Amino acid sequence: MLTDNHGRKINYLRLAVTDRCNLRCFYCMPEEGLNWLSRAELMTYEEMLQTCTLLVKMGIDKIRITGGEPFVRKDIMQLLSSLSKLKGLNELTITTNGVLTAPLVPELKKLGVHSVNLSLDTLDANRFFSITKRDEFHKVMETLEQLLKYDVEVKINAVVMDGKNTQDIVPLVQLTKELPVSVRFIEEMPFNGDGHIYDGLKWDYVRILDEIKHEFPNMQKLTDGAYSTSYNYQIPGHKGSVGIIAAYSRTFCGTCNRIRVTPEGELKTCLYDAGVLNIKDLMRKGISNEDLQVKLIDAFTHRPKDGWEAEHNRNVNHPAHESMATIGG
Ligand code: 5AD
Ligand code: SF4
Repeated sequence: MLTDNHGRKINYLRLAVTDRCNLRCFYCMPEEGLNWLSRAELMTYEEMLQTCTLLVKMGIDKIRITGGEPFVRKDIMQLLSSLSKLKGLNELTITTNGVLTAPLVPELKKLGVHSVNLSLDTLDANRFFSITKRDEFHKVMETLEQLLKYDVEVKINAVVMDGKNTQDIVPLVQLTKELPVSVRFIEEMPFNGDGHIYDGLKWDYVRILDEIKHEFPNMQKLTDGAYSTSYNYQIPGHKGSVGIIAAYSRTFCGTCNRIRVTPEGELKTCLYDAGVLNIKDLMRKGISNEDLQVKLIDAFTHRPKDGWEAEHNRNVNHPAHESMATIGG
């Protein structure tokens, strides 16, 4: 079992396979997009597979594929298929914006992907356009339908943005009445690709919870899983559940079991750190798996205690204004 220098178990990898995306969510990247990584800067399929294989041998048993948007990467289904065969990997999941996903759902199900996180911040097509700058709302809803039809567990991620979608909080909660989905509201973080100034958090988890309780006073607290990043609730009689993720307030660091690898192959041991080791560069210099393992363990045993310490440690040349698309959501 892998543990860090604070006694926390590490068993969960979030692998971001691309920084590219077919949406332009306001909180993630500017409308003109990011300065996309070139193909040579991205990890190759082989490098990603080698990284995952080694990490699974070391004790990672859950991998989430993220981006950017994973499905804009051409070799993604091949990667998922190879990962699904890794012995010791118990859970393979994906975070997607759902634009390209609907037709792939049967194949994903076949590969054993039994849970998908779908990013969806509003149930209104016009607001969807204003948040994402793309007219793709209906494709995302189609993906939601397909996932439910194929009995894939669905978590809907909605970032709460002051002045943009707070009127969607109640309708999104209402979705849980008939649909067996978990709707999770996420505090907005400053990772927006520097497209706009982040002027502090107006909707923290307490305010989001108040807003929901005002409409659903009988909502009940569920017991949160040991490594859960969300506070979970359910409204009696509803098929689904509600979660709130204090991504900015960082209330979940004490049990953090996750590491990240960015599309460039940078290892992050905290969402808020600037990267601690470049796996791709080491592989291209011909490092052996044994030596890489030593370096990985060294990184895991020098982990910041929480997101505040990680942010504080960042070099001034790397302020926390990168995009979630280069971090890996
Ligand atoms: N703040 C909070 N969540 C964000 N995401 C992307 N950027 C931000 C941000 N600045 C979320 C997306 C997606 C997940 C990968 O990360 O909504 O669900
Ligand atoms: Fe794309 Fe996700 Fe960023 Fe939106 S949040 S622009 S869907 S990577």
